[in-house]
Amino acid sequence: MRVIVIGSGGREHALAWKISESDGVSKVYTIPASGAKENYFEGIDLDPLDGDAIADFANENMVDLVVIGPEAPLVSGVADVLRSKGVSVFGPGANGAQLEGSKVFAKEFMASAGIPTARFWVARSMDDVDRALSESGEPLVVKCDGLAGGKGVVVSETLEETREAASDFLSGRFGEAGRTLVLEERLQGREVSFFAITDGKRYHLLVPSRDHKRLLDGGNGPNTGGMGAYAPVEDAMDLMPVIRETIFDRVMAEFEKQGMDYRGVLYAGVMLTNEGPKVLEFNVRFGDPETQPLMALMLSDIVPYLLGVARGALPQAPVEFMPGATLTVVMAAEGYPTRPRSGDVIEGLEDVRITDDVRVFIAGADLDRKAGRWITSGGRVLGVTAKGKTLEQARERAYEIAGRIAWPGVHYRKDIGVTTTA
Ligand code: AMP
Ligand code: GLY
Repeated sequence: MRVIVIGSGGREHALAWKISESDGVSKVYTIPASGAKENYFEGIDLDPLDGDAIADFANENMVDLVVIGPEAPLVSGVADVLRSKGVSVFGPGANGAQLEGSKVFAKEFMASAGIPTARFWVARSMDDVDRALSESGEPLVVKCDGLAGGKGVVVSETLEETREAASDFLSGRFGEAGRTLVLEERLQGREVSFFAITDGKRYHLLVPSRDHKRLLDGGNGPNTGGMGAYAPVEDAMDLMPVIRETIFDRVMAEFEKQGMDYRGVLYAGVMLTNEGPKVLEFNVRFGDPETQPLMALMLSDIVPYLLGVARGALPQAPVEFMPGATLTVVMAAEGYPTRPRSGDVIEGLEDVRITDDVRVFIAGADLDRKAGRWITSGGRVLGVTAKGKTLEQARERAYEIAGRIAWPGVHYRKDIGVTTTA
């Protein structure tokens, strides 16, 4: 089999690696070319948003499956273009991708399906915002309707902060994405990520995972794409039946009701509140960094699931995971997330022995092939992923390896897998 993975982050490295482990796979291409983080991947210099060019390449090279990593190509309908040209794709079309591409769509979907989530208001003007605030009587979470690169959410502490954030978004900071807002009641609790691989009718849940989104230890500092993650989340295992019944079974029923042909992964970011689990957001792709520990812990061959879903028939058997735990520490560049510095030589990476228990997934770094060195090129540079019999052991191993890798200004959190906070 020949497989294309679209995307160039740590998530895509982890997916491409897991796919390459499958017996039936002889070739893994990455689009863009910078996604080729192993010498046995072949990087293809095409635009991830150019569905026509990707379809032509796939058909000319007899590619059996395309796996789309990031949300942007999904929301813009790359999966639809590929399918219309006869290519098998893991990832929803533009219709299903609205679950991530429009927060209003997602909230209305949840309301129609009866899925527990925060109470919400839609606002297109400051008058709407003031009406929502007088109804709620408390500060609200302010969210851009559209994609804003993970920066379109403000959890405000005061009524004035709610108004300021709303006004900032409405005045066009994120362009069209912020012309419509969702204002939400603030939920309290621990966050867990649940991923369902689904053909739109049935699904298999992966073990729960948790990421740490804040830049600094203890859940302080600005929000980031994610500074580390681990799986499984033991304190969420008992909740799996409730998660199925109140979230994913209802999603499947709603897909049927709306006639939605959803093929890919559905990611529910869930808050475990005193009133039970509530959905904070849906994403229509795998999470990053959560995918890194998940791929390292997955026992099943992932390819039959990806291919089955792409063809509209999910395999019957649940996805199996190894015993133990995996944990990823994200090593980031100085200045991340606002202005990451790049161009630094990464020391120590060549000396890290990649074993069954340790993998380093590369995101914001490029290999200088002549010099044989990795050079930083983005904010989240790499994810050190380790497996252990226990979470504690995985954590020790990951930090031991992280301590051997360095470049000027490197930053990473020291409390991944310790706290249950952000
Ligand atoms: P979202 O992109 O919707 O997941 O929001 C990003 C982050 O903001 C989440 O991971 C939560 O940490 C936080 N958040 C979002 N919605 C709420 C809410 N209703 N109550 C409390 N925190 C929230
Ligand atoms: N880990 C958060 C995300 O992928 O959106």
